[in-house]
Amino acid sequence: MTEYSPTTNIDQILQSRSRNENGKSAYSCDEEGNVILAEAKKGVPLSDVWNIPFLNPKARERVGYPTQKPILLMERILHIASNEGDVVLDPFCGSGSMLVAAQMLKRYTIGIDISAEAVELSQKRLENPIKSGSAVVDGNRDAFLVKSDYERTILQGLDAIPVERNSGIDGFLRIYVEDAPVAVKIQKKYESLEDAAHKLTNAAAAKHCKYMILVRTLADEKNTLFSHGFHSLSNDYLLVIDSFDFILNRWLQDRTAIHS
Ligand SMILES: C[S@@+](CC[C@H](N)C(=O)[O-])C[C@H]1O[C@@H](n2cnc3c(N)ncnc32)[C@H](O)[C@@H]1O
Repeated sequence: MTEYSPTTNIDQILQSRSRNENGKSAYSCDEEGNVILAEAKKGVPLSDVWNIPFLNPKARERVGYPTQKPILLMERILHIASNEGDVVLDPFCGSGSMLVAAQMLKRYTIGIDISAEAVELSQKRLENPIKSGSAVVDGNRDAFLVKSDYERTILQGLDAIPVERNSGIDGFLRIYVEDAPVAVKIQKKYESLEDAAHKLTNAAAAKHCKYMILVRTLADEKNTLFSHGFHSLSNDYLLVIDSFDFILNRWLQDRTAIHS
């Protein structure tokens, strides 16, 4: 594994920032030009990429207007830029997607368009608003973008900050060890412990972490051997520990086996 050095390009989220003489945000450096690590962050910054797919060609929401946008996209903008009861003006309303989204979110709407056909279409849509869902958006929200309560509880127990959208790292400890962040991964239902360790090691190397913690959540016949409380996959840099529910379930199973 690569040794962590403060001069390497560590993850931007973990770098301390300050304003330079022009008022621009810049990464803070010490006198020797080494990057300074930030204090532990309280949360994870929202991504600047919105994962909203094109409207499906067969979506009921689709009206055939060539530049029609998905209501889901308009809703996202409206949530950020307005409140219930506000007036939303779209002076180039086209097929009226923004107006429909605004109406659904209890905003007042004003639409303008140079094309009479667009105005008529917008009016019809407002009378019969239809919004198509998105399996991609819903699926992402559940399985990818947001950590489960179970994962959050485990991370909380380790005093780790959750990380979203990284299949190799679920969080970072709030403390740095030997000036480097410590990566944490929780074994997923579909992962063997070896696979999880492999993903964690790769992702941690990319973030210039020296130490890693892998939380085992599943029983696996190959992986029952522990010595002195540590799993055999553990090494000088990787600590494999069992989740509380895993320890408890194993203990209960042993009791049941003994007493049956
Ligand atoms: C990109 S489309 C809007 C698409 C819309 N967001 C939707 O979901 O259907 C731009 C619209 O601006 C209208 N437009 C172009 N020039 C205009 C003008 N000078 N005044 C008003 N509307 C105009 C066009 O007729 C077109 O419908």
